[in-house]
Amino acid sequence: MKTILTGIRSNSVLTLGNYLGALLPMVRLANKYSAEYTVNIFVPDLHSIISEVDGDLRENIVRTVKYYLAAGLLVNKNVHIYRQSFVPAHSELCWILDCVATMGETSRMIQYKEKSKGQESCNVGIFNYPILMAADILLYDATYVPIGEDQFQHIELARNLAMRFNNRFGEVFTIPASTAEQVKFMGVSEGIRIRDLLNPEKKMSKSTVADGSKIMLSDSPERARKKIMGATTDSLGRIKFDMFAQPGISNLLQIEALISGVPLQDVISTWAGETKYGDLKKKVGESVAGELATFQEKLAKISDEEVLGLFEEGEEYANDVANKKLFEVQKAFGLR
Ligand code: TYM
Repeated sequence: MKTILTGIRSNSVLTLGNYLGALLPMVRLANKYSAEYTVNIFVPDLHSIISEVDGDLRENIVRTVKYYLAAGLLVNKNVHIYRQSFVPAHSELCWILDCVATMGETSRMIQYKEKSKGQESCNVGIFNYPILMAADILLYDATYVPIGEDQFQHIELARNLAMRFNNRFGEVFTIPASTAEQVKFMGVSEGIRIRDLLNPEKKMSKSTVADGSKIMLSDSPERARKKIMGATTDSLGRIKFDMFAQPGISNLLQIEALISGVPLQDVISTWAGETKYGDLKKKVGESVAGELATFQEKLAKISDEEVLGLFEEGEEYANDVANKKLFEVQKAFGLR
């Protein structure tokens, strides 16, 4: 069985960007394919500590899993949910892959450049983070990794490390699908990048200070609707998908498509020829508010115990699979 795998850090409450870029696509894929694929959903808690954590990390970890359930994830015997730090093989393989990766390729990672801001005082975890991510993926022979566009470079790095390793030692790792294949598998036309509502040239990010820039999953539906109504657009007076000339309008069309599950092209066609930005904002605001209302209602009903029960099964499974793969790698290197 092929494996679909993803993880979302648990530093804080998530944004609509996390939700539409990774969480909802993963839930839809899991529900569609979990009879024929293995589905691994894990919380990269070790990745979470590269930067400051808002609130209590353990609570955030449990809440992150609740988010998947509230978004409609159906759990069956092929769906495994686990915490990265409860599977020590991730850190162990990360070290081994550190000895395969080069400083050059790792230094080229855009997220590292952005997060380190070129400062030597940045922690080494920020530099090493894509290698740990490669370990997360390669330990389970994952083929498909539903993620937002900002993580594509890390998938390419994981692929390169797997290919380099296999060239040296034989076929130890499954090579994850290329980003073009990932996009196809996710059923979208290009990588998903939800934009900052006030500054749509940038991606929506939890670290942006201006509250109107981002929708948090904890925002009330009404507050979220207001933020959409306040989104920056342009003065061209046409509703067209053009990320360069009209990033604000394109972002709204993208949000509408992802929430409704309607292909982006169809949403674009529906609005073609329309000129009233207020109408589009009203529609998208209602969609976001409706989605959040349903999501939050379900979220409130999920107990911590339910999540802890899922971890129990998932971590037993994950340790079993990961330790077997790690042993193969250790043998290849002559460590065993
Ligand atoms: P993280 O926690 O920063 O983000 C989680 C997921 O949310 C997506 N995302 C977005 N997608 C679209 N538009 C946005 N504005 C937006 N903001 C965030 C991210 O692309 C990501 O998919 N390194 C990863 C976590 C990780 C992981 C892994 C993922 C660790 N190991 C193995 C997959 C496989 C991260 O920091 O994502």
